[in-house]
Amino acid sequence: MITESSQNIKNDSTVKGNLRDEEDFVLDNTLRPQNFLEYIGQEKVKKNLDIQIQAAKKRKEPIEHVLLYGPAGLGKTTLANIIAREMNVNIKTTSGPAIEKVGDFGSILTNLSDGDILFIDEIHRLNKTIEEILYPAMEDFKLDIIIGKGPSARTIQLDLPKFTLIGATTKLGSLSNPLRNRFGAVHRLEFYTNKEIEKIIKRSTRILDVTADQTGIEKIASCARQTPRVANRLLKRVRDYSEIKDHKIIDGIVAREALDMIDVDHMGLEPADKQILKTIIEKFGGGPVGLNTIAAAISEEVKTIEDVYEPYLIQIGFLARTPRGRMATENAYNHLGITPPNSGQNNKLL
Ligand SMILES: Nc1ncnc2c1ncn2[C@@H]1O[C@H](COP(=O)(O)OP(=O)(O)OP(=O)(O)O)[C@@H](O)[C@H]1O
Ligand SMILES: [Mg+2]
Repeated sequence: MITESSQNIKNDSTVKGNLRDEEDFVLDNTLRPQNFLEYIGQEKVKKNLDIQIQAAKKRKEPIEHVLLYGPAGLGKTTLANIIAREMNVNIKTTSGPAIEKVGDFGSILTNLSDGDILFIDEIHRLNKTIEEILYPAMEDFKLDIIIGKGPSARTIQLDLPKFTLIGATTKLGSLSNPLRNRFGAVHRLEFYTNKEIEKIIKRSTRILDVTADQTGIEKIASCARQTPRVANRLLKRVRDYSEIKDHKIIDGIVAREALDMIDVDHMGLEPADKQILKTIIEKFGGGPVGLNTIAAAISEEVKTIEDVYEPYLIQIGFLARTPRGRMATENAYNHLGITPPNSGQNNKLL
């Protein structure tokens, strides 16, 4: 069995920049499942990975490079760490934007050992030069280094350890084809069902030593945007509220009061979600309107809208992505209590 200390998990605090505060980071780590049994849901991905891992172990080879993609907070980093544990190998963690210099990347690669996992979060943000070093590294475990400059420059090739690259991205479309094609397995993480989120919250209540009844858990789960990270974050906020109010148990009423206080509605929408939808509806006639325009109108970063708010709004059918921009759907109008134009028409997309 592998022990915690034999894992070389270097958590890069720059990974998400301002998208994730320190509190989220600590909470993520405390509640992170350690193995496939604790990792709830994503059955198809787990099954495929398990087969991949068992086969590699049998052959005594590292597993093929794995690409994990899907919206923020669905469990990509967690899975990468579980894969390392199941394979009994070290994992080194970095992120696309954190690797700036060729030399730095070269030293990351040469410092790996056979079988090690290199986890690159936000892999779609790697710069082109680094990406080109990665191709031969992934394919042949070779590192090309150019020594010197001008006519006397020459290339030497170093052998690299047989490592496994695990890449994670929220934006598969931003990955270049040559990079994507070099992954032996590509797995897409899906939003979770309410039942799965309830299980995740139950597990977290045990770890955080919180008492919640079934309706309390259901209330939190239904507002968790089908996302484990959000579920855990809401649980923590509800716990804080119930402690201050001296409730021994989080029931449906306490949960709703707490969620009202932090402005999370029964669909899990936060003020920023509503602001995005209202802007599209009230300022741009329901769209289509470009993401940059929306971002400017509400003074929010494009990346935050794209990574944090938009995927769930699309998932629940409130927002549609079209070639000409974002559009609010009839469901969004209804949720906000705004009468849709042409409301008599049997057309979801206005
Ligand atoms: N399947 C799961 N079962 C239980 N808890 C989970 C699961 N997936 C994620 N979590 C919880 O949600 C938190 C967020 O997951 P994780 O950091 O792996 O998401 P991520 O996909 O890497 O997000 P990001 O794109 O923002 O990096 C974890 O710390 C863990 O507590
Ligand atoms: Mg992550």
